[in-house]
Amino acid sequence: MHQGDDTVTDRTLGIAIHGAGWVAHAHAASWLKSAHARIVSVSDVDRARAQRFAAEFRLDCDVRDDYRQVLDDSQVDVVDITSPSPFHAAQGIAAARAGKHLLVEKPIALTMDENRALRDAVAETQVKSVAGFVLRWNPAVETIKSLVGSGAIGQLVYAEVDYWHRMRPTHHAWQLHSRKQTGGSAMLLVGCHAIDTLRWLTGDEVVEVTAVANNERGLFEYPAIVVAVLRFRSGIIGKTSVLLDCEVPYQFNMDLAGTEGTIRDNRLWSKRLLPGQTGWTTIPTILPDSGDVTHHPFDGEINHFVDCILQDRESHCNMADAFRSHEICLAIDRSLAEGGRAVTLPLGERS
Ligand SMILES: NC(=O)c1ccc[n+]([C@@H]2O[C@H](COP(=O)([O-])OP(=O)(O)OC[C@H]3O[C@@H](n4cnc5c(N)ncnc54)[C@H](O)[C@@H]3O)[C@@H](O)[C@H]2O)c1
Repeated sequence: MHQGDDTVTDRTLGIAIHGAGWVAHAHAASWLKSAHARIVSVSDVDRARAQRFAAEFRLDCDVRDDYRQVLDDSQVDVVDITSPSPFHAAQGIAAARAGKHLLVEKPIALTMDENRALRDAVAETQVKSVAGFVLRWNPAVETIKSLVGSGAIGQLVYAEVDYWHRMRPTHHAWQLHSRKQTGGSAMLLVGCHAIDTLRWLTGDEVVEVTAVANNERGLFEYPAIVVAVLRFRSGIIGKTSVLLDCEVPYQFNMDLAGTEGTIRDNRLWSKRLLPGQTGWTTIPTILPDSGDVTHHPFDGEINHFVDCILQDRESHCNMADAFRSHEICLAIDRSLAEGGRAVTLPLGERS
């Protein structure tokens, strides 16, 4: 690393995108805006897809179907893992062992064993990492984080984040996402965004979860309607729900209640900041109200990651942190598997 080097900001990082699909398109658009990054490799098990991807973005880069070649390429500083979820952990571990920094799309792992192994590989190799919890850079989420941090609603007593998104067999990745082995579960597939946002906004850790679910229509191999009650270390109580099999436009509800006020998405009620308030104050901002990857703030996530690498500092969204969000998702799945029993965290060594 170029720690303490004045020329550090002039450095250009070589980026390898691995998995040339839907989300990779949005990542590429953001990498191309960075003054400190150059896409030097695009790879996919389907070489023709990688080729089309490179042509679409007019990239002057290597095109591959062999991941080993990506890892052996000395031009590559960062591997951006946008392949399907079951490959994330193993590909992330291999990238870390090859000395590459890594951006890993969510879910970073589908089991606790994978989750631990990826976290440990990154810790051992000391490469920089960021998980695909892109909503941390959404303007409404940033606004809520700032309000909570400034004490606008006092001490938190309740926190709730939900992910509601109708998903149907017309979805481009339906075969992967709807199956247990490749999609994991509703929590791992998309609920992880809600859980990560709960941790990020409260600054607290979940110590117990209790979950119920149903899968009335059986469209998914796993329960597609999940609700979990959460207990946080500080005493905050919370709730998350994931609705995949329902009729609703994309909703990412964020509610936080405290001793001095309440926030509901972009609406603020604050006795401390606005004592004369007679109704909710609405803050103009960009809500996380679309499942389309072109709406997701990948520019912010990627600029943050580039800064972390160039300035040799850890990301708040690194693998060690993402490990915890995934652990909660897996604890909720365990609660479901055990008939709604309360599951305490951290999970034991055996998952
Ligand atoms: N952060 C977010 O909000 C967000 C949004 C969308 C998708 N994602 C995640 O990104 C991942 C990819 O989703 P997508 O919708 O882009 O899928 P996709 O099917 O559009 O793209 C996946 C690509 O990976 C390729 N691939 C398959 N097996 C591979 C392997 N073993 N190694 C390398 N490449 C392989 C496929 O050929 C395809 O081109 C998923 O894990 C998904 O959860 C995250």
